[in-house]
Amino acid sequence: MKVLNNFLGRFSQDIGIDLGTANTLVYVRGQGIVINEPSVVAINQKTGDVLAIGKEAQRMVGKTPAHIVAVRPLRDGVISDFEVTEQMISYFIQKVHEDGFHFLPRPRIVIGIPSSITEVERRAVEEACLRAGARAVFLIEESMAAAIGSRLPIHDATGNIIVDIGGGTSEISVISLGGIVVNKTLRIAGDELNDDIIQYARNNFNMLIGERTAENIKIHIGAASEMAEVLDAPIRGRDLVTGLPKEVIISSPQVHEAMQRSINTIIDAIKGAIEETPPELLSDIIENGIFLAGGGALLRGLDDVIARSTQIRATLSEDPLTAVVRGTGIVLEDLEVVQEVLIPSVRGYELK
Ligand SMILES: Nc1ncnc2c1ncn2[C@@H]1O[C@H](COP(=O)(O)OP(=O)(O)OP(=O)(O)O)[C@@H](O)[C@H]1O
Ligand SMILES: [Mg+2]
Repeated sequence: MKVLNNFLGRFSQDIGIDLGTANTLVYVRGQGIVINEPSVVAINQKTGDVLAIGKEAQRMVGKTPAHIVAVRPLRDGVISDFEVTEQMISYFIQKVHEDGFHFLPRPRIVIGIPSSITEVERRAVEEACLRAGARAVFLIEESMAAAIGSRLPIHDATGNIIVDIGGGTSEISVISLGGIVVNKTLRIAGDELNDDIIQYARNNFNMLIGERTAENIKIHIGAASEMAEVLDAPIRGRDLVTGLPKEVIISSPQVHEAMQRSINTIIDAIKGAIEETPPELLSDIIENGIFLAGGGALLRGLDDVIARSTQIRATLSEDPLTAVVRGTGIVLEDLEVVQEVLIPSVRGYELK
């Protein structure tokens, strides 16, 4: 059996998945990242049918008739809808296999999950992968995968700190000897910053703006520091008084003001994690610096603000949005070697 498994293993399209609250990415062994789509599912509420998943569903957000809703099944780093999450996972796995050969053996899957999800949710993710055709499923904490994807020496007896700011959650982990020594997870990340901007527009311009509009503003002119170059951009929405369309110009200091509280909360959590770090590891961290991953880390000037407020150098991982999925890919290549970084599964799959 083992021989057969080894033989099959060489041909199966093993895959790594970053099941993010904002984006789901899929890595295929030997091919790299083949899927990078928003974690969005469009559902017909009248019938319960899934109409679209990923990019296609995203295009429908806010533009659908009332009975069609676009849901993000993983909002805030928790699985808010098991069934829809499962359908989304299956869809992405099947999409990978569509392009492959049908006689390929069933894949093994390494999947990154937020460390904040519960035991029940973990099982649900595992079951979803199995039902979608996996022959073995290995779960890994996202921040561990982000550290591996950022090429940090996680196995060494040296402390490293990784901050992964995604859509739903910001996770701060101190890693040493293949384990997470300190972890802080907060439900304040990119989505919250979008909400802050929506709130700001409501309070200051009497205007209702959509989530995508807020996100575009954040990405294009938003800044984490008042020292960043001042930029401005038009935003469109609905005037709350007249109900008519309205356009105003918003400037980056205003966007900064809108997001400041949330940004401070993230920085305080980083400081908190540093305070909890054992002194021996702390000196490593001071030497190695803070590594930033996740889309939220791309916010203009965030690395500078983090460095200034912690007095520790902060470095953006190469391509922060793909760090987690690249980490799962590296794990796939070497399952036996890295098994201690995986979350033990109730099923105990063979690693070969
Ligand atoms: N240039 C940018 N500036 C600021 N924010 C950005 C930028 N690019 C992407 N983002 C934000 O990054 C977030 C998505 O990041 P990412 O794909 O890492 O999240 P995720 O992994 O899906 O979520 P989570 O890790 O919380 O489950 C979104 O909130 C998006 O607005
Ligand atoms: Mg993530």
